Amino acid sequence: MSGFGNEFATEAVAGALPVGRNSPQRVAHGLYAEQLSGTAFTAPRHANRRSWLYRIRPAAMHGEFKPWTQPRFHEDFGQGPVTPDQLRWDPLPMPGEGGAVDFVDGLFTMAGNGGSAAGTGVGIHMYAANASMRGRFFYSADGELLVVPQQGRLRIATEFGVLEVEPQEIAVVPRGVRFRVELPDGAARGYVCENYGAMLKLPDLGPIGSNGLANPRDFLAPVAAYEEDEGDFELIARFQGHLWRADIGHSPLDVVAWHGNYAPYKYDLRRFNAIGSISFDHPDPSIFLVLHSPSDTEGVGNMDFAIFPPRWLVAQDTFRPPWFHRNVASEFMGLIHGAYDAKAEGFAPGGCSLHNSMTGHGPDAATFEKASAADLSKPDVIADTMAFMFETRAVIRPTAQAIDAAHRQAGYQACWAGLRRHFDAGA
Ligand SMILES: [Fe+2]
Repeated sequence: MSGFGNEFATEAVAGALPVGRNSPQRVAHGLYAEQLSGTAFTAPRHANRRSWLYRIRPAAMHGEFKPWTQPRFHEDFGQGPVTPDQLRWDPLPMPGEGGAVDFVDGLFTMAGNGGSAAGTGVGIHMYAANASMRGRFFYSADGELLVVPQQGRLRIATEFGVLEVEPQEIAVVPRGVRFRVELPDGAARGYVCENYGAMLKLPDLGPIGSNGLANPRDFLAPVAAYEEDEGDFELIARFQGHLWRADIGHSPLDVVAWHGNYAPYKYDLRRFNAIGSISFDHPDPSIFLVLHSPSDTEGVGNMDFAIFPPRWLVAQDTFRPPWFHRNVASEFMGLIHGAYDAKAEGFAPGGCSLHNSMTGHGPDAATFEKASAADLSKPDVIADTMAFMFETRAVIRPTAQAIDAAHRQAGYQACWAGLRRHFDAGA
């Protein structure tokens, strides 16, 4: 179903959705009615998000939660000093031959800020998995999950229905929604932003007008689809930065019908309408904003999700790649596909980089030399690429396991070491 944050209505069995009320005395087909609220009951109407679910069993039915751990997936961003150095990593290694690693087992926490207790900031994770979740369901009460596949498709079976996403598409699973991830291609890797702050929304467009960037109709929500499976299953919860496990005797994906505006969704990044300069200079990269989580300060994002998609570069008398810069915000970047135009080498699909607040960065030496001598009489086309950024107002703290990881690039700063002095006061 098409449209960002629309008021959807869907039923997998005819007549399952009540008409004219949310909670009738007896729901059709013997279903239970349950409301799932993603915002405060009293949030203003334009910001109010909730859905009504009509399901075989209520979400309350499961065994007692007991602490559970997956040591690489946590919310420990450390209390100690954070290096202001530029950081970069090779792709997270895929699981070895040692056995089945599903989406939950394959999560690796890279970095983060704020936390679930404060309700601000983000957790930034990667996943590398080689098996579908079997008999296991997961939800995060701590934040909505923005999933950015880089390798391999994901079939995300949720309470609201099924989302199928491939690399260059994204999926967003709201806080609390239970799901299972299957891997149709047998292996998968990607990035996850766990947003502890305000729910992701489309940015305002200002002078751009009423169209452009990510258009609302390209966001797709699933139609209702339910499972009746019973067995010895487990429900894994992410709650206040820790993991909990409960027995559950049935699939919690048993919602036969639902209506409302709080639901998972997907978006194809290749549908992003990129806008840029047709005269000279660059707009700020906020022009590439797909979704953002606002903070309590107007215009300042808790987290901004931007992409760097294929596009034409036509600006005249302009250094066409991204410029050198420092930024009050902090930037975690990943590469989904192809090559990134500010780096000649070293930033591979599945890799990532972190440039924190006021840390200088920009094109590497090879890119600078090439772009400074480029023929601007012809347009450049940047094709076969898709990079993205999670940008936050607070400093992004890399985890100890990310700093110590064998796949971190120790010599990343050397990419700027070859920038030669060109200054000549007399030239
Ligand atoms: Fe940057």
